[in-house]
Formats: sequence, C-alpha cells, structure tokens
Amino acid sequence: MKALIPAAGYGTRFLPASKTVPKEMLPVGAKPAIQLIVEEALAAGADEVVIVTSPDKPSLKRHFDVDAVWHARCAKKPEIDAELTRLEEIGRRIRWTLQTEQRGLGHAVLQAADLLAGETDPVLILLGDALVSGQAPSADMAAISRAFGGASVVGLEQVPLEKVSRYGIVAGTPAPEAPVPEAADRVLRLSDLVEKPAPEAAPSRLAIAGRYLLDPAIFGLLATQTPGHGGEIQLTDAIRRLLSTHAAYGYRYPGRRHDIGNPQGYFETLQAFQAPR
Ligand code: G1P
Repeated sequence: MKALIPAAGYGTRFLPASKTVPKEMLPVGAKPAIQLIVEEALAAGADEVVIVTSPDKPSLKRHFDVDAVWHARCAKKPEIDAELTRLEEIGRRIRWTLQTEQRGLGHAVLQAADLLAGETDPVLILLGDALVSGQAPSADMAAISRAFGGASVVGLEQVPLEKVSRYGIVAGTPAPEAPVPEAADRVLRLSDLVEKPAPEAAPSRLAIAGRYLLDPAIFGLLATQTPGHGGEIQLTDAIRRLLSTHAAYGYRYPGRRHDIGNPQGYFETLQAFQAPR
C-alpha cells in the first residue's frame, strides 16, 4: 500500500507562528506532527509515503534527511542518536513532490498522480494537519478495504449540525455485511458526498475526517474535476464521481481527530496526546 500526505497549505489560521514554522512541523512531544502521521501510515502497512508540500516549507523534507552534523552532536547520546537513525530510515521511504499553486485539496492530491502512476491498490491519504488520538484509523481502514475486496474507505466522525458546513458530509446506509466484526456498526456504504453543505442541505451529520483509502481511479477523476466549493478542486467532489463506478464505504472511526491548523486545535492535540518524548 502507498500513502499520500497533502501538506502544502499555507496555515494562515496559525499566523504569526506559521510564518516560519509550517503547521505540520509543530511538535507533539519530541516529534513534529508530520512524523506522527507518517508513522501512522507505515504502521497501517504503507511501504512508501508521498508527501505533497509547498516550496515555501523546506523544513518538512529536511526533518527526514540524513544529517551527519546531528549524529556528531549526539555521539555521546546513543539513545537520541538511534532515534535520529530511525527517523532517517523512515525518510528513505518518503518521496516528495510540490504543489506550487493553492487550488484546493483535490489539486494537492493530484500533484502525486505521477509518482503513484501504475498503482492498482487503493492509496491511503492522510491529511497533514489532522492527527488522531486514541486508536489510529488507518490500519482499520486498510482492513475494511481488504475485507470488501479493495473498495475505497473514507474515515468519518459525527459533528453537530451547526458545524456541518465546515466539512465534507456523506450519505450512506449501514453495511451490516461488514466483515470486520468489531467495526460493523461503524461502517456505511456511501451513496453521496457533499463538500461543506449548509445545515439544511446536509445529508447527515457524518463528516469526512482526515483519512481516506481511495481507489487510484481518483487521480483520473481529479484531473478532470471542475472547481467546486470555494472555487477549489475538491477531493470530495471527485470521490462523489468515483461512486458511480466503484463501491466506497465510510468508517466512523473510534479515535478522536484533532486539527493542528489552528491554535485551539493544536492545544487540544497536546492535551489529548500528552506525549512524553
Ligand atoms: C478538508 C476536506 C473536507 C473534510 C476536512 C476534514 O477540508 O475538504 O471534506 O471534511 O478536510 O478532514 P478543509 O479542512 O481542508 O477545509
């Protein structure tokens, strides 16, 4: 399985901190958020991760690069040095590409199409500003996809009606045949998706929540996707079109999603993780 992390957004909701520190580099304990997300992807079975970033955020790639100077500084601290070596090993499994114009999440995902060309298995997409505390959803989503013969799976969370207009909202029917028993009451067969609907137009209160496992046909659809909500190329709109040819499921995962792209969300992330090192 390949994973893809869109991490190109400017992070304007976190200014002025995000002027020089990309939101994905904010620390949660001793690791930046992007490292935790890469680790979630690898733990779920991804053998390679593509990160889409912006030319203005070189620190993301530098974080995973081999750095002899730091090894020299840590010569007398073998545990920390081993941590750096482990980080570099993770770095060898990452490929990088750039989004040079901010044209929406779907457009960011599309930037990875060339690096993932020829892929036949569903691709795990993890938003670079969404951390999940408690049970990470990606491994469950991979298991659910396999159980449904490689179908697409979208991670979901229930949100209050007054917040539906901040999210992609799905419609679906319970999938009692879900072959992952402990997840059965959490799995839906999707019938529709709408990006950021008004409350009166929302088909449910189930919001798309930062994790996707999508059939690679999504890249062809994104290449022809017309701008949607906010004049941007929306991933949600392309998944909606995917439904006409491919089955897709929603998984209301048990973990809690945190948005590290704003100060309040970041504060809640730190409280939820209480990461020591
Ligand atoms: C994006 C997606 C939206 C999803 C949200 C949270 O919106 O477009 O469908 O619900 O992430 O995962 P954004 O937060 O980038 O506006």
